[in-house]
Amino acid sequence: MTDATLLLGQTLSYSADPFTDGPGAARHDSAGGVLIEAGRVAAVGHGADLRAAHPWARVVDYGDALIMAGFIDAHAHYPQTAIIASWGKRLIDWLTTYTFPEEARFADPGHAARIAARYLDLTTAHGTTTVCSFCTSHPGSVDAFMAEAQARGQRVVAGKTCMDRNAPDALCDSARSAYDDSKALLEKWHGTGRLSYAITPRFAPTSTPEQLAALGALWAEYPDCLMQTHLCEQTEEIAWVRSLYPQARDYLDVYEAHGLLGARGLYGHVIHLSGRERARLAEVGAALIHCPTSNAFIGSGLFDMAARVAEGQHLGLATDTGGGSSFSMLRTMAAAYEIGQLSGTALHPAPLLWLATCGSARALHMQDRIGNLAAGMEADIVVLDLASTPATAQAAARARDLWEAVFPTIMMGDDRAVRATWISGRAAHGA
Ligand code: GUN
Ligand code: ZN
Repeated sequence: MTDATLLLGQTLSYSADPFTDGPGAARHDSAGGVLIEAGRVAAVGHGADLRAAHPWARVVDYGDALIMAGFIDAHAHYPQTAIIASWGKRLIDWLTTYTFPEEARFADPGHAARIAARYLDLTTAHGTTTVCSFCTSHPGSVDAFMAEAQARGQRVVAGKTCMDRNAPDALCDSARSAYDDSKALLEKWHGTGRLSYAITPRFAPTSTPEQLAALGALWAEYPDCLMQTHLCEQTEEIAWVRSLYPQARDYLDVYEAHGLLGARGLYGHVIHLSGRERARLAEVGAALIHCPTSNAFIGSGLFDMAARVAEGQHLGLATDTGGGSSFSMLRTMAAAYEIGQLSGTALHPAPLLWLATCGSARALHMQDRIGNLAAGMEADIVVLDLASTPATAQAAARARDLWEAVFPTIMMGDDRAVRATWISGRAAHGA
């Protein structure tokens, strides 16, 4: 007899992309069930049917709560956990004032281990089951994060942040050491259990051409790895890149010229793109990662989601902790909605929830394993209480359908709305 668990509640999954197929791409059952066996989803169906077919399964009845795939944060900086919500300034000042001094503390493996645990505790409490994170330039910061995720059975992607100029000496590596250290970490962690390595040049201004070329060569050696970086976040940053790389056609061209453009590339922010850059990203099938709380918090600008969708870009959603002002993917969806409104588009909750799960999973090329509720998928699940506060409860009470019931929680919800988080088929938060 297998050790089976049956979760009962409302269930939400997707059979297609709601950006192209509309809200009908979502599958909702107001009395659904998710059967978990050996860390995977064994079946999704009507609760009563699953109960009758699996009478020995341990039942966890969540009542009216919404059971869906756990959230996937496609761009975060776990080392910035302690400096989240630091006041003021624009990107470059914010990096030098808050970020670099905090990242320097990760020379201490004890600090790295403490923050890795704190970060994964916080994200789990917010219903996030997979993150794709930058580490610091210290190899030990990758070891700490990977080891903590491994101990939790959690699927994460992470990489050593590479910088060999325009950063404090204590954080700078070199072209050679960035290549050697990244390669050693990749060999150690990539594909170990649920862990994946991402080659991680921070962004063009903090790398010499030699370092970008070395990391491009490493990616060519390990093409199944992801590569993560930042692109076109702020106008001053773009002007700086132009002065550092005068021969490049544009910012994206800097990456492409050094072997750092590809379908497995994850490009954070991507707000101020030229027409050429947009066309090239779409042609390559790269992932554009929208970081809406960060883009508002650091004053970076308005990402035009509707236009990017119309171009056929692959999109992911992310907090960008700690440039982002929250660990919560609910707050992140709310910010995406508000930024959409400022750009003339009211995003429906079906694509918002899809972006935070299936969309981010596709950006990470993991849509066959995570991001949706379906038989065979890994059992990473969030259970949302749609009446977690008096404000959401009274709004949800008037709802005529799932979308009206869930939207107040998207707009006003936070970790209080997370009734439980399941990772690899085990309750990692709540019960
Ligand atoms: N660009 C380069 N580094 C960073 C970072 O740590 N956060 C954000 N938001 N943008 C960056
Ligand atoms: Zn970032």
